[in-house]
Amino acid sequence: MSDQIYSPSNAFSEKALVSSMNDYRNLYNNSIKYPEAFWAEVADRITWTKKWDNVRDFDFVKGQIKWYEGGKLNVSYNCLDRHVEDGHGNQTALIWEGNNPEEDETYTFNELLHEVQKFANVLKGLGVEKGDRVCMYMQMIPQLPVAMLACARIGAVHSIVFGAFSAESLRDRINDSSCKILITQDTGVRGTKLNIPMKSNADKAVAETPSIQHVVVVQRTGESVDMTEGRDTWWHESMASADAVCKPVEMDAEDPLFILYTSGSTGQPKGVLHTTGGYLVYTSYTHEKIFDYKEGDIYWCTADIGWITGHSYIVYGPLANRATTVMFEGVPNFPDYGRFWDVVDKHKINQFYTAPTALRALMKEGNDHVTSRDLSSLRLLGSVGEPIKEPEWKWYHEIIGKGTCPIVDTWWQTETGGIMLTPLPGATPLKPGSATFPYFGIEPVLLTEEGQEIDGNNVAGLLAIKTSWPGQMRTIYGDHDRFIQTYFAMYPGYYFTGDGARRDKDGYYWITGRVDDVLNVSGHRIGTAEVEGSIGKAIGVAEAAVVGFQHVIKGQGIYAYVTLMTGVDESDDIKASILASVTKEIGPHSKPDVIQFTPALPKTRSGKIMRRILRKIAENELDSMGDISTLADPSIVQKLIKTRPAI
Ligand code: WTA
Repeated sequence: MSDQIYSPSNAFSEKALVSSMNDYRNLYNNSIKYPEAFWAEVADRITWTKKWDNVRDFDFVKGQIKWYEGGKLNVSYNCLDRHVEDGHGNQTALIWEGNNPEEDETYTFNELLHEVQKFANVLKGLGVEKGDRVCMYMQMIPQLPVAMLACARIGAVHSIVFGAFSAESLRDRINDSSCKILITQDTGVRGTKLNIPMKSNADKAVAETPSIQHVVVVQRTGESVDMTEGRDTWWHESMASADAVCKPVEMDAEDPLFILYTSGSTGQPKGVLHTTGGYLVYTSYTHEKIFDYKEGDIYWCTADIGWITGHSYIVYGPLANRATTVMFEGVPNFPDYGRFWDVVDKHKINQFYTAPTALRALMKEGNDHVTSRDLSSLRLLGSVGEPIKEPEWKWYHEIIGKGTCPIVDTWWQTETGGIMLTPLPGATPLKPGSATFPYFGIEPVLLTEEGQEIDGNNVAGLLAIKTSWPGQMRTIYGDHDRFIQTYFAMYPGYYFTGDGARRDKDGYYWITGRVDDVLNVSGHRIGTAEVEGSIGKAIGVAEAAVVGFQHVIKGQGIYAYVTLMTGVDESDDIKASILASVTKEIGPHSKPDVIQFTPALPKTRSGKIMRRILRKIAENELDSMGDISTLADPSIVQKLIKTRPAI
C-alpha cells in the first residue's frame, strides 16, 4: 500500500458539490450530532405526497428499522413524472448501448414514463396488485428498468434474478418469495454469446414454481421459443394494446420496494428486502454527492442491474436525480478490449463507475485500446465491489483518468442499499486502495472478536455500523429471525458487515475483505456453502470444501477440495461432472477454478473442517500452516500439500 496521496485538483474542487475536507467534516459532524434534523432536510430532495411523522426509529437488538414512518410517496413518480412536470420531459433519461456496437437506443423522461405506465397497466391486467412479487430474469435490456419502475408505480415488489443464474437458482428464488409473475426474454446476447437461453431456463424453473401465474416474454433476438398458451404473453403484444395512463399508487415510506437475493456464509441465499422512502432518499443523495452529478452530465455505471449496484446506481439513484443514465448490454472485451472506451467516447460519458476485476482484465491487454479512443469527456471515475489494489488504481488514474479524474472507491453492500464508505471527489485526498471515510450519517466502528469497539487510529478489526441509515435493508424476506441472527446477534447493538477493515494513522478505512465464508469472485458474492452443496450433488462426490484464493483477474478464485465415494476414481470426467453440477445448480459464474481431489478433508476431532488450513494450501502459503495438532488426522495436511495442483 502506498503512502502517496492524491488531492483533488483545484479545478475539480472549485466546481464540486462538496469542495473541501472542512466542508465534509462540518457536514459529517452535523449529520452525526443531529441525525433527525439532518435526514429530515435530506429527505426534502424527493417529492412526498404526505410528510413523515417520525424521521427514524431503530433497534439493532430486535432488528427493527424504520425511516420516515407515515410518509407517503411513489418511487416511479419521483424518478419520472416529477421531472416531466418540471418541464424536463425531453431530456434523455436512459441511454441503452447494445451488445452490438451499432445498436443503441435513447429514452427521454417522457418516453420512459410512457413505457412505464403502459407496462404498469399490463401488469395490472395480469392481476398484479400492490404487495405482489414480480420476478425478472433478464439480460441488460431497456425493458428491465421499465419493468422495475412499472412495479414501483403500482406497488408491486420486484425480485430480479441475475441473468447468469441457472434454472434451479431461479426456481428457488421465485419460490422463496412466491412471485406471481415472471418477466424474461426469448434469448440473450452478451459478447460472442448470441443465444443465451433465457426463456428455456425460465420454462424449466416455472415447471416447479406453483405461484407463477403468467410469464411475460420480451422479444430481444427473435429466436423461436416455446410459448405456453394461457400462461405466456409477449411483451410487445401486451404493450400494443395497453392503456398509456396509469396513476402512481401512493406508498408508505416503509412499504417494500424490492427483494434482491444475496449469498451468505451458510445455506440458502437471503432475500434482502429494501423499502420505499429511505432507500430512495439514500440512493439519490449518495449518487449526487459521490459522483458529483450535475445537470447535463452523462453517467455510466457498468454493473448489471441483476446486482444491487445496478438497482441503486443505474436505475433508482440516478433517475431520482434526473440524471442521464447509461446501461450496457455487452461485455468489456467485445468486439475488442477497447469497448468500454468506445462507449465513453460515443456517449461522452462524464462519470464512469466500474469494478476492479474489469480494470484488471483490461489493464493486462495494454494501453493501445485506451489511447486510441478519446476519453476527454471523463471527469470522475468510480470503483465498487472489491478492494481496488494499487496497480489497477494507478492505471485507472493515469491511463483512463489522465491523472485529472478523482477516483471514488465506494464500499457498500446489497444490505446497505447505497454507498457507505467513500471519498467525496472534490474534497477527499485519496490513498490508492482505501475507501477513505464514511459518507454523511454513517458511523463505522471497528470491533474486536469479542465485540469491543477499537478506538484510535492505526488499528484493525471487524467492520460494523453503529446507527441506522435510510438505505439499510429492513429484513430477510420471510425470515426476520435470520435477519437478526445474521447481522445483529453476534455483536448486539451493531450492524455487522461481515467485512474486516483497518483504520490507518490518518483515520482512512481500508477494507481487508470478508471475514466469513463468502467469496468475492469478479465482484460477485458467492457463498462457499452453496458451491459446496452444488458440488456435493455431482454423482460420485462424497464431500466438498470450498475456499478462496488470490486470482489475478477475478480478485478471488474458487478452490474446491473434493473427496469421492469409495470405489470412485479421480478422473477428468468427474471434474467435468462437478463443473456441470455447479453450473446447473447455481450458474457458470460459481464454477471452481481449481479442483483438488483428496482422500479426506482436514477435520478436528469434533468433525469440523479446518478451513484455515485449506486456505493456506490454496494460497500456497505452505510455511505458515500454524497449529495442526488439533486435527483428527494431521497427516492429511502433508498429503494435501503433496497433491496440490500447480495453479
Ligand atoms: C465487497 C456490492 C472493498 C465487500 C456493492 C462487501 C468491497 C461485499 C467494496 C458486498 C470496496 C464492495 N472495497 N470491498 N469498495 N465494495 N466490497 O453485496 O466485501 O454484492 O461486503 O455489494 O463486496 O457485495 P455486494
